[in-house]
Parts: sequence; C-alpha cells; structure tokens
Amino acid sequence: MRAIYLDYNATTPIAPTVQEAMAPFLSEHYGNPSSLHALGRACHEAVEDARSHVAALLRTDPREIIFTSGGTESNNLALKGTLLRDPSSVGGHLVISSLEHPATVRPARFLERLGYSVSVVGCDIQGTIDPQEVKEALRDDTVLVSIIHANNEIGTIQPIRDIARICHDRGILVHTDAAQSTGKIPIIADELEIDLLSIAGHKIYAPKGIGALFVRRGTALEPLIHGADHEQGVRAGTENVPYIVALGQAALLAAKASDELHDRLTDLRDELASRLETVLGDRLTINGKGGERLPNTLSVNLPGVSAHALLNRIPDLCASTGAACHSGSDAVSPTLAAIGLTPETTRGTVRLSVGWYTSQEDIQRAAELLLDAWESLSNSES
Ligand SMILES: Cc1ncc(COP(=O)(O)O)c(C=O)c1O
Repeated sequence: MRAIYLDYNATTPIAPTVQEAMAPFLSEHYGNPSSLHALGRACHEAVEDARSHVAALLRTDPREIIFTSGGTESNNLALKGTLLRDPSSVGGHLVISSLEHPATVRPARFLERLGYSVSVVGCDIQGTIDPQEVKEALRDDTVLVSIIHANNEIGTIQPIRDIARICHDRGILVHTDAAQSTGKIPIIADELEIDLLSIAGHKIYAPKGIGALFVRRGTALEPLIHGADHEQGVRAGTENVPYIVALGQAALLAAKASDELHDRLTDLRDELASRLETVLGDRLTINGKGGERLPNTLSVNLPGVSAHALLNRIPDLCASTGAACHSGSDAVSPTLAAIGLTPETTRGTVRLSVGWYTSQEDIQRAAELLLDAWESLSNSES
C-alpha cells in the first residue's frame, strides 16, 4: 500500500518542476556565479532570477532577499545579525514568544549567554499572542522582537502587523519566522510591516538546505559567516546555485497557488477532523481551533492513548506526534505547554498536515487507520 503522507509541516516533497529547474545546474551549468566568463554569467543570472521570484512571492524588492541554508540559518542571522551588529546594543534586550521554533529559541538563549537579555511573551489557550503583551514586554533597550508567523505544531497565525506597529512606534526592529506560513497563506512583506522574515525551502516544495531571509532595505546585519562579498556582504560563501534555482522555482509555484488550492487544503483538513469527531465526539480536542490557523494543519489530542504508540501501529501513515525535531522524545512540547495542555493530554497529540499532493482518498484512509489504531490501543491499554 502506498504510504499516506500527512506530514507537510515537517517537510514537503520536491515539486517535479522544481526538480526540472534545478537539474541543469547539477550538470552543464556548473560555473561559479562570481566568474565573469559565460559559464559564470549563466549561473549569476539564474541566481538573480531566483532572487526575483522569491521577492515577487513576498511582493518586495530582490535586493531585500538574502539566500541562506534554510529556516534555521535565516532565524540565526536575523537574531544574532541585529543584536551583534551594533556595539552600543551589547547587553540589549530581545523579545520572543512561547510559540517559537527551536531555531529562534536557541539563538536567543545563545545571545543570553553573551550577556543580552531575553523576554518570552506567552499566548492564550488558542495559541494566539496578544500584541498588548508584546507592548508590555518592550524596554528602552529592546533591539529586536522576533515572533513566529505561524506555529509549526498547531498552525496558529499571529497578528504580526499589529505587533510590528507597536514595535516601530518605539524604533524597535521586528522579525518573523515565516517558515511555515510561506506558500500556505499570502505573505506581503509590506502589509506585515516587518523588517526581517525567514523562509525555509523544504516547506514549499524545494529541497532541504536552502532558504532565504527578507531584510528590509536599510536594516544592518552582522554576518554569521565572514568571508567574501556574496549576498551583499551579509552571507559569505559561493552560492548554492542548484538549490537557489530550486527555491526560485518553488517561489514561482507558491505565488501561482490559487485561493482555490488553499480552500481545497482547508476542506481536506476539516474533513479529516470531522471524520475523527464522528467517532470520538467531544473526546477529541483540536489545538488552536478558536484562533486563526494555517489551512493545512490539524493538531489533535486523542484521548487515553500515546501518540507514539498509535503512530507506531500504522507505519503507512506519515504524521508527527509534535514538531519533527522533537519527535522520538516524550517531553511535552513547549508549544503545547504554552497553550496550557497537560502532559496527559499531550501524550495523545498527533499533528496531521496536508499539502498539494494529498487526496480525498488519503484523508478517508488516514481517518480509518487512526480510528482503528486508537480503538485497538484503547482496548489493549484498558
Ligand atoms: C517554524 C519553523 N522555523 C524554522 C524551521 C527550520 O527550518 P530549516 O529546517 O530549513 O532549517 C522550521 C522547520 O521545521 C520551522 O517549522
């Protein structure tokens, strides 16, 4: 039986046209984009075309796009790059939230070890952050506020523009980690009013190991990697041309993705939820349900069973018990703890995330497999 893939928030398959676009840059187009000869120039043009496509997706200027190795590096560059840049801000203040991915939390903790201070703003039980709480966390020495756009586990979307307005009134920079929201909902950098925004290629049908950081013109960053003048002197190292081309193609596809496609994902997600609810009724809880959520993400708490044990019984269903990077551990995920779930509830949390290649048949089969496994596990545990 074909595996049912409902783990698009962990990673997406590479879209066929993305593979086609990058293939020539793994063979005949091997020039260094910095070389002035024909082979180099072809690669330089391909990199710049890709930059334009990523910029078009965010409706911004190509000069505001820096290619990185992925979401983790983009977040690191945003946080460390802004705080380390200005010697007068040494020991300054950074605000993050309780819904951040480790790719934000860990650089923040690193900065704390260097003498900076970090405040963590909480969220409500729906997984939404109140901009007023961000306002209350601001200090005279706050340099940056970094708030995730859409959470990877429960999919809730944060009011970034309201947060940005509050911060900008105080002259404070704002970063958002949009690794999960990019390609799933429209993102217009100017409408969000942010200064920095992270993208991860492998969440939008490009390969793993490529990403981008939107850097609003005039925002100075200290590089993480010092070297030659690549990427406007912000990210040294010869460009990963095939993967950059892939990201550009993926951005083109994402920009073309219609409202219809987003509605289809929402319908598939809601059908899966209602099939589970038909049997489990109100014993099934949906995380983040009351808040604004990504169209593709369904985080559910199944009563009385361990999600690990459940998914182990159905190897043909690819889903997560939480964020992929936390899987394999039974520790309560910080996101689920932030929305007030108890360890007993999070034991049964399964994240199901649909994507471009999910079919209605996948949804029907996934619901059956989950409910069968839940029933047999419940019987064996009782
Ligand atoms: C919200 C979020 N930020 C950052 C990352 C890290 O991105 P990458 O895997 O490209 O380093 C992920 C990946 O899971 C994510 O979901």
